[in-house]
Amino acid sequence: MDRFEYWEFLYRKEYETFCNSNLCGEDWFENYTDGGKKILDFIYSLREECTFRDCSFLDLGCGNGQFLLLVDPTKFTKIVGVDYSFSAIELAKAYSEKHHSPIEWLQADVFHLPPQVKAGNWNFIHDKGTLDAIELQGMKLVDDYIQIVVDLLAPKGYFVVTCCNKTLEELVSLLSGKLEFYKNLSYPSFRFGGQEGTVLVTAAFMK
Ligand SMILES: C[S@@+](CC[C@H](N)C(=O)[O-])C[C@H]1O[C@@H](n2cnc3c(N)ncnc32)[C@H](O)[C@@H]1O
Repeated sequence: MDRFEYWEFLYRKEYETFCNSNLCGEDWFENYTDGGKKILDFIYSLREECTFRDCSFLDLGCGNGQFLLLVDPTKFTKIVGVDYSFSAIELAKAYSEKHHSPIEWLQADVFHLPPQVKAGNWNFIHDKGTLDAIELQGMKLVDDYIQIVVDLLAPKGYFVVTCCNKTLEELVSLLSGKLEFYKNLSYPSFRFGGQEGTVLVTAAFMK
């Protein structure tokens, strides 16, 4: 099973569960983020600081959309979720329709985005677990992905990324020369083998 098939299989099961029992599936890292609330508050604080009058928000690898559906639509002029899993997008759309959400959902591979996304000039790009998933396929793809994020962002736009595979220092180093580190969110820390780490990293970078 390749990566795409893995995600498709996982979200197909979630979609079937949603159809049978109305349960909406997993929002990644929800245990560490107070069900996404910590990240949402972080994003809202950035939104309040920034000077964009109109403000667009793109979620790359949105999965079943559970996180994006928490975002207050009145704070952004346009919200779009993209994922290459057909079932993830089907589930996000079904759930979204039920809750009359204005979010737009798009089935697409981040490496082959349609013109309307490429031309978006996005003020916020959000990634929770997508960089981690892409890294499983090799560092070459990670470099390509970061360049895509840089190209999609508007000047002074924010890339808000949550990773479980990297320390903050590794993330900053990965993006250095492309995006400027701005702020990060704190999570509980632990020590292992004499090193201090956190369960997750959420950081905001600016173009
Ligand atoms: C760890 S899951 C996170 C899902 C969601 N962001 C969340 O927080 O619940 C990673 C997601 O990245 C998506 N993904 C991985 N590679 C992708 C690609 N090349 N294009 C679009 N989506 C991709 C997967 O389908 C999956 O939904």
